[in-house]
Amino acid sequence: MEEFGLRLAQATGGPGVIYLCGDLGTGKTTLVRNLLRGLGFRGKVKSPTYTLIEPYPLGELSVYHLDLYRLASGEELEWIGIRDLMTGHELLLVEWPELGEGALPPPDLVIAIDHRGAGRQLDLRAASERGRQWLAALSDERRTGAG
Ligand SMILES: Nc1ncnc2c1ncn2[C@@H]1O[C@H](COP(=O)(O)OP(=O)(O)OP(=O)(O)O)[C@@H](O)[C@H]1O
Ligand SMILES: [Mg+2]
Repeated sequence: MEEFGLRLAQATGGPGVIYLCGDLGTGKTTLVRNLLRGLGFRGKVKSPTYTLIEPYPLGELSVYHLDLYRLASGEELEWIGIRDLMTGHELLLVEWPELGEGALPPPDLVIAIDHRGAGRQLDLRAASERGRQWLAALSDERRTGAG
């Protein structure tokens, strides 16, 4: 998951929306932590389970990590001003997106994580042209052995 987070940072590296699906403890926050490392963030990444949202200003790019596990309704997302945050220059990483249905912007990429013994299985689905470009960049990395 650590390695994949770094690779995903190389492949994305800009604005967009990523949904992270998977049961409790599958590694969604672990992936976000390593994606942020890959984007150059050096501080502590805590789970936004109680705060709902944690901002990470990274120069040109604002990254927002959301965890909607405790969200009561889509309305609550409106109250925290999700729409005002969306200027088109941010990367949104959303755990438990199912709970924000209707109030969240649509994803570019959906990552579903499952337990696979002691490891994890990831299923990546592009949901936009940008998402398709990210996936293409990821498989290019694999071919060239980078990351
Ligand atoms: N291959 C792996 N990938 C990711 N996490 C792993 C792996 N193997 C073990 N783990 C452990 O599983 C746990 C995953 O926790 P994490 O908080 O990232 O999950 P989560 O999906 O964000 O859960 P939640 O839905 O509660 O927010 C961590 O303790 C991590 O060390
Ligand atoms: Mg989490």
